[in-house]
Amino acid sequence: MNSTPTVPHHIAIVMDGNGRWAKARHRPRSFGHNAGRKAVRDVVEGCLRQGVQVLTLFAFSSENWQRPQDEVGALMELFLRALDKEVDELHEQGVRLRFIGDLTAFSDALQRRMRAAMTRTAGNDKLHMNVAVNYGGRWDIVQAARRAAAAVARGELRAEDIDEATLGRWMSLAELPPLDLFIRTGGDCRISNFLLWQVAYAELHFTDTLWPDFDQACLQRAIDDYAGRERRFGRTGDQVARTQDPAC
Ligand code: FPP
Repeated sequence: MNSTPTVPHHIAIVMDGNGRWAKARHRPRSFGHNAGRKAVRDVVEGCLRQGVQVLTLFAFSSENWQRPQDEVGALMELFLRALDKEVDELHEQGVRLRFIGDLTAFSDALQRRMRAAMTRTAGNDKLHMNVAVNYGGRWDIVQAARRAAAAVARGELRAEDIDEATLGRWMSLAELPPLDLFIRTGGDCRISNFLLWQVAYAELHFTDTLWPDFDQACLQRAIDDYAGRERRFGRTGDQVARTQDPAC
């Protein structure tokens, strides 16, 4: 018997393939990112329909600053425009929007818009949508470790009392359901420094589909794939089956 609920509570996506999608159409990479924005809208719609509780998207990694300046500039423009245009609709749909990552690297205008969007949607709970920007999984672990060290320095915590649960409370997304399904589009099978801590027991789904082509049908395929997995969390298959036996 399979313990996996049909719909994952928390899905994270590495939205890869915008550049190749644009190149195939002889257009600049920014054209692909713009098309990627439409795919975001469709996937949000799909998550709302399916009852997914949390959607976490990797929009800009700590490493993406190394891209050509014009592409970084175009992405920042796109984020600004998306914030101006999409927040109203997300709010109406009951989506709570949050940005995770080191936001201090962004322009004041962008930081202001991000904070305003978070405040505005803070009371919503149909879907928690987290957008990771200037985010890296190693950064996340380091910032949690720093907070633990500061608590030790203040005398509020003993170093020997730091365990996985303690550190976990300081990681991004700690207050949300654990990550169930990690999706990566664009054909590469790697984590790329996204949610390193949180991915520990997530199911992984890799697809060749380029992000701008990813739609609700693709999301359904990923969810079906997930639903067919047996999640054992370190136990044996027999143990898992026993915990599901109504007689136990
Ligand atoms: C990776 O594709 C994609 C990004 C670095 C940017 C993701 C941004 C969006 C999808 C824009 C919309 C997002 C929001 C939240 C408004 P790539 O450029 O690495 O593609 P490639 O591997 O084909 O070069």
